[in-house]
Amino acid sequence: MTDIENVSVFGTGVLGSQIMMQAAYHGKSVIAYDISDEALAQLPARWEWMRAGYRRDLPDFDEKRFDDAIAAIRTTTDVNEAVADADLVIESVPEDLELKKKVWGQIGQAAPDKTIFTTNTSSLRPSDFADATGRPEKFLALHFANLVWRSNTGEVMKIEKTEERYFDAVLEFAGEIGLVPIPLRKEVPGYILNSLLIPLLNAAAYLYVEEVADPSDIDAVWKIATGSPKGPFEIYDTVGFNVAVHVARSNPADKRLQKFADLLQQSIDAGRSGLGDGAGFYTYDSDGIGEEPVADWKL
Ligand SMILES: NC(=O)c1ccc[n+]([C@@H]2O[C@H](COP(=O)([O-])OP(=O)(O)OC[C@H]3O[C@@H](n4cnc5c(N)ncnc54)[C@H](O)[C@@H]3O)[C@@H](O)[C@H]2O)c1
Repeated sequence: MTDIENVSVFGTGVLGSQIMMQAAYHGKSVIAYDISDEALAQLPARWEWMRAGYRRDLPDFDEKRFDDAIAAIRTTTDVNEAVADADLVIESVPEDLELKKKVWGQIGQAAPDKTIFTTNTSSLRPSDFADATGRPEKFLALHFANLVWRSNTGEVMKIEKTEERYFDAVLEFAGEIGLVPIPLRKEVPGYILNSLLIPLLNAAAYLYVEEVADPSDIDAVWKIATGSPKGPFEIYDTVGFNVAVHVARSNPADKRLQKFADLLQQSIDAGRSGLGDGAGFYTYDSDGIGEEPVADWKL
């Protein structure tokens, strides 16, 4: 057992809200910080969306435990209050380096000595804002995957300055809140997941823009040959085209990827940005179950 009982989560958006529920559902005392009451006011709707996911995906789901978890999450817009008794801070604010530095500066100023600091950044280098905390030896990454209760990896990544004992404590904490803790002993862009996934998704995009095969046929080969439940284009639909375009645009020298991003953008403009819109490379029913390939993508 770790000594981590009081968890403070910064940012109550898509991931922050899932993280705080994951911690509270597993018995931690949680305080949620966001910049405005308007942001915090979105939490009740997020709980109900999440409740449906827990109910659907967790065979031993317990309604009362979920309600108790909601009740155990306090909210605040005051940084000092948010960290006053924090054993651990999990930061999940928007993916912007200057913003992360600013927020970590505030947290570092206000947190007591005992607090361990973790970031949920997906694509920034944690070491680029570690010093803003004032205590980089207590700072590392704890990276959650979207749909935390189901896709429950906890990639725990050290940076050069992280002390081993804090790395060990966060790994253990990840296990305590129902994650599968995965130790990453060196800093790597994109952790393990994106180090594997992005090359796969890019390779699928190249096959398509070079007019080798249709998305559904590329998916079929991948699924049948490897036993994977999803092919790369089904993954594009799940991730959403906005994220995929953002990732592609960060690599402007790659002309094939730019062509692919242009096509994704056309689909976004036509109201088909993936699963969230009910259509992307495939159409989906109201439960998010894939129906059939969208004809526009056929070569
Ligand atoms: N969305 C994903 O699938 C996913 C997966 C893994 C990791 N992440 C990472 O999690 C982080 C958050 O992503 P998200 O998708 O939840 O974003 P989001 O935009 O849904 O939520 C961000 C939240 O941070 C709040 N915020 C803005 N400024 C703030 C500040 N100064 N202090 C505290 N809160 C502030 C916003 O009001 C909002 O509630 C990012 O670093 C992202 O890379 C996202």
